[in-house]
Amino acid sequence: MGLGPSLKVAVVVSGRGTNLRALHEKASKGNYSIAGVVSNNPMAPALDYASRQGLPACAVDHRVYATRALFEGALAEALDRLSPDVIALAGFLRVLGTDFVRRYQGRLLNIHPSLLPSFPGLDTHRRALEAGAREHGATVHLVTDAVDGGPIIAQAGLRVAPGEDVATLEARVLALEHELYPYVLERWARGEVVTH
Ligand code: GAR
Repeated sequence: MGLGPSLKVAVVVSGRGTNLRALHEKASKGNYSIAGVVSNNPMAPALDYASRQGLPACAVDHRVYATRALFEGALAEALDRLSPDVIALAGFLRVLGTDFVRRYQGRLLNIHPSLLPSFPGLDTHRRALEAGAREHGATVHLVTDAVDGGPIIAQAGLRVAPGEDVATLEARVLALEHELYPYVLERWARGEVVTH
């Protein structure tokens, strides 16, 4: 008899939640589990998804805190209640401060819609097309103080099609993200990801 999922993952979101959904759906076959979901946006569709699936879910609304430090303290409390092994940012659209990042150093992951170090920041698909990039994709990396600059764990890439527009490129990269993030957590749970 197996021991069941060994790695507890807390997912932090801001919006739509398709990566959360992919992580959750693939967790049922994998050796990690979703301990719960925290959103800085109380209206995030990702929270509705979490509730429908019976996952512990809560909002920590950044707008009600006077400072970033206070918001991040509350976010950390919400996360610690889930006692996660790993925290996976999945479409979390706020920059995290040094104290928060240090607190979870080495077990705080992010997925970013580009082949880092190319195109950190927002609007990556439009910028990749404007730059004439021939390849594009997604990256899972450790979060550090450097925004979108932490050590890369895994990437999934595709070739940009001639005449491709932002919408199709975004959809194709998103489909890669939905494979890449569960893959990384699966590997992490098996102890196959080495981070420094
Ligand atoms: C995803 O493409 C994710 O990579 C990106 O936001 C989207 C969220 O979609 N994240 C960032 O841009 C982080 N800077 P989802 O809510 O459907 O998972």
